[in-house]
Amino acid sequence: MFQAISHLQTDIEMIHGDFKGKDIVSFDQFEVADLNTLFTVTRQMKRIAENNEPSRLLEGLLVGLLFFEPSSRTFSSFSAAVKRLGGQTIEMQNPEAFSSVSKGETFEDTIQVMEAYTNAIVLRHRISGAAKQAARAASFVPVINAGDGNNEHPTQTLLDMYTLYERFGRLDNLTGLLAGDALNSRTIHSLLRGLSLYENNTMYVLSPRQLQLSRDDFVSLQDRGIRLIEIHREEDIPQDCDFWYWTRVQKERFASAEEYRQAQSEIVVATPELLNKYASKDMILMDPLPRVASVDPAVDADERAVYLRSQIRNGVYTRMALLALVLGRI
Ligand code: NCD
Repeated sequence: MFQAISHLQTDIEMIHGDFKGKDIVSFDQFEVADLNTLFTVTRQMKRIAENNEPSRLLEGLLVGLLFFEPSSRTFSSFSAAVKRLGGQTIEMQNPEAFSSVSKGETFEDTIQVMEAYTNAIVLRHRISGAAKQAARAASFVPVINAGDGNNEHPTQTLLDMYTLYERFGRLDNLTGLLAGDALNSRTIHSLLRGLSLYENNTMYVLSPRQLQLSRDDFVSLQDRGIRLIEIHREEDIPQDCDFWYWTRVQKERFASAEEYRQAQSEIVVATPELLNKYASKDMILMDPLPRVASVDPAVDADERAVYLRSQIRNGVYTRMALLALVLGRI
């Protein structure tokens, strides 16, 4: 049951079965029925991409990719998604160095210019809340949040949940271990919102104390009915998790290099030994990537590690589906 109400970011529209023209800013906008729709479309998109089927679904449409923060996967997978469907992109990475932003143009002006050229804007920004601000500034085209500061990353959650759904055939009754930087990881923040839409999910959150979820997030997420159990030591990892979700310490969110080093030194790294000790044989190990001293490359050969396999590919398929739905072509 969807119970989110009080914590809802007020002026964000729920999808309520109709994606067309909607800004996608927070995972709070999704209900179970919307995810069912998106996953059905994702399966069609997977077929198109896997078979290199020419598609004209987004023909004639332009999508602006406006990335104020570094990105490899999210940027390339959005670009691939548009192009796989026959659409085109305008791509601006690091606009603060290479565009009129460097001359002092306001954020709102940049957004309004981009919307004059395009049919949708995909935005990544280091400031939490920037996607919502962009959605307000753009009156004619939808804005899709590709990660805003340490706030949310809803399209990462779409691919993470699709990966879980493909593997387990359900999104309820799951036990997971979310490790790393729970305080700053926007992918953890959106994923917990997503998993809280389903019954009986239990999430262990493993982090050093200074990187645990903010108390506001902890309380508002628990209010939705998801069971959150915070742990701080390797020894407390339960052995019956369906999945592990590892994240790096978000260096760019720290005030000083020293604070970052301190936090990094307290992190539990996913190694073959850790899997041997605590992971069930049927679980999967996920990571939104990039990994920075978070998952040992020696784990890659383990079949349970999906981050360089299905998880990464699902990023293209789910983004294809989202774009087709938001642009009203499906
Ligand atoms: C994540 C992000 O940018 O939040 N990366 C991604 O989009 N796959 C995770 C991260 O940077 O740690």
